[in-house]
Amino acid sequence: MSTPRKAFDKHAAYALAVQSPSEDARFLRRVYSELSGKTPKTLREDFCGTFALCCEWVKHDDSARAWGLDIDPDPIRYGTKKYLAELDEKRRSRVQVRQLDVMSSRAPRADIICAFNFSYFVFQERRTLVRYFESCRKRLATRGLFVVDIFGGPQHGHPCVDTKRLSGMKYYFEQSEFDPITNKTRFHLSFERTGERKRNRVFSYNWRMYSIPEIRDAMLDAGFKDTVVYWEGTARDGRGSGVFHRRAKGEPCEVWVAYIVGRI
Ligand SMILES: C[S@@+](CC[C@H](N)C(=O)[O-])C[C@H]1O[C@@H](n2cnc3c(N)ncnc32)[C@H](O)[C@@H]1O
Repeated sequence: MSTPRKAFDKHAAYALAVQSPSEDARFLRRVYSELSGKTPKTLREDFCGTFALCCEWVKHDDSARAWGLDIDPDPIRYGTKKYLAELDEKRRSRVQVRQLDVMSSRAPRADIICAFNFSYFVFQERRTLVRYFESCRKRLATRGLFVVDIFGGPQHGHPCVDTKRLSGMKYYFEQSEFDPITNKTRFHLSFERTGERKRNRVFSYNWRMYSIPEIRDAMLDAGFKDTVVYWEGTARDGRGSGVFHRRAKGEPCEVWVAYIVGRI
């Protein structure tokens, strides 16, 4: 008799498709040691969702602490049952998650504040974006860093769908709308488990596409002393290598992903 299949789990599908918390934690530690010359202890993960990164962060160092902030209780509940429950008691005590707006003045202070998976694209007005960056700058510890990821390229100047085969599942990254006057755009994540119907638009986002120079300028306007870009290297097959280094100059590609770091 065949064993029944597990029910579809949208947060697990999301994690498989777009998250790499252990690589993210390693990357943040490397960037901090390269730019600030010491080991970071505290991480604030803004827009943390299921706060997988917070739970990873505290595994790397016995004194590391992590705070996650998200306004939606649903992913927080999921992360509490899934990732937090998997940690031993000591590590668990060093993770704190709050259902809070990232703009809140009660957001905690940290060595690193990060906003990953492009979540800050939700701020469609530049002045709101600058206000958010400013609030992050004010909550950074001495030699603290603010780190965001960003993506772009000509492919994202019009509607398109990217697909990726994952273990037991096909993943669709769909851009359904793009307005070149405002750069406002709409993205959706859909999933199709092998042998099952496609689950359409399980996650949807109303974003504004920002460029690297726009984000760097916004960080400077928010009072950061300077900004650094980490650009992805190229593998032998010509695709992205997944390894990011400090660069002053990139290369044109159809689609690219990069990181921008604000220093105080
Ligand atoms: C694209 S998901 C990113 C989740 C996670 N950071 C990751 O890397 O996968 C965006 C998250 O931001 C949260 N969010 C949106 N606006 C927010 C705000 N103003 N303050 C806090 N969280 C917010 C949503 O609830 C959602 O969980």
